[in-house]
Amino acid sequence: MDHFLRQRGRALIDFEVGVRRAANRMHMAVEGILAAKGALAETLPQDMDARHAFVDDVLAGALVYQARALFGEWSACQHGQVCEAAFEEICDDIAPMLDALADGTTTIEEFPQFVPPRYWSEVWFHRTTGGWDAGPYSGFVHGELVHKRYVSRIFPGDIYAQRRTVLDELPRHDHARILEFGTSSGHYTVALSERFPRAMIVGIDPSIRMLEQARRVGNALGQAWQLRVGVGEDSGLPDESFDLVTSYAIHHELPPQIIARWFAEAFRLLEPGGDLLMVDVPRYADLDRLVAWRFDWAAKWGGEPFWRASAQLDLAEGARAAGFVDVHAGGIAPAGNPYVVYGRKPEQAHG
Ligand SMILES: C[S@@+](CC[C@H](N)C(=O)[O-])C[C@H]1O[C@@H](n2cnc3c(N)ncnc32)[C@H](O)[C@@H]1O
Repeated sequence: MDHFLRQRGRALIDFEVGVRRAANRMHMAVEGILAAKGALAETLPQDMDARHAFVDDVLAGALVYQARALFGEWSACQHGQVCEAAFEEICDDIAPMLDALADGTTTIEEFPQFVPPRYWSEVWFHRTTGGWDAGPYSGFVHGELVHKRYVSRIFPGDIYAQRRTVLDELPRHDHARILEFGTSSGHYTVALSERFPRAMIVGIDPSIRMLEQARRVGNALGQAWQLRVGVGEDSGLPDESFDLVTSYAIHHELPPQIIARWFAEAFRLLEPGGDLLMVDVPRYADLDRLVAWRFDWAAKWGGEPFWRASAQLDLAEGARAAGFVDVHAGGIAPAGNPYVVYGRKPEQAHG
């Protein structure tokens, strides 16, 4: 979505990217110290709280550990604020363009009786201020500034290509009715549209601000996505109305009992033979204790209150418990991230 940031806004965001990259490099130095002191994956405590306490103890007095914490804290708190500030500088210029993109073939259905769940409305994820619906253009700020100018530059690889690659995990690609849980500002929806150009795509998310940005993206691309304000665990959509239910990077923002309901709701919504493809962060059980501690440390600083509980769940087992068959799960090579769970609703589930 075309826009030009002012020099100050660009510099602020670039600075935060630099801080976060420096924190990532410091983290590697921290792990080097741990190794030198004999704190290896196989010697770390099994319990995650005990693991943190053990590492804190080993690294007490290590300046690079303190600096890494400071840089991480700074970047976690500041990245959202600088993106807001950068947007404020251009808001008057681009608001008409953003508002005009509300018109088109991508639509949003709102439900006046919808009350967002408290696990969503009471948490300001990612340590941003005000949560997903903080301001009138939060969707643009998240999708175009936080995501494309910050997140995409601090994580390894092409995070948008990864959204396309995971679709290779599907056994077929003739899906015609696709439901996406957690559409947000539409990054995965774009990948779905590219891979399934003739499919009807329905997207559900509790955040009207994020869906407004997805609608802009959809309209700019000439898509006819049907977006709905709501939650995956209670979609309000009819039984057996989709042949693919999918999501990208949401489970770590959900309490475990909601994840179980997501699988059950996806099962209800799929026609017999329909496919489930859920994508999220790696499972701690698949990682060694040092790498799991690394993820857990980042989640703790990054404002992710459900990450640990979610990453400790066996999602394949969750899919099987809901009735899915041919379930397989695992991290995508080469880094094992993202993590994909596939399942199929059996044909005989009908009736
Ligand atoms: C990390 S973003 C999703 C990323 C997006 N799928 C992508 O590919 O970039 C998390 C999104 O999940 C949404 N969300 C949180 N709880 C949800 C729920 N129960 N059902 C559907 N969406 C939910 C949030 O509102 C937010 O927009």
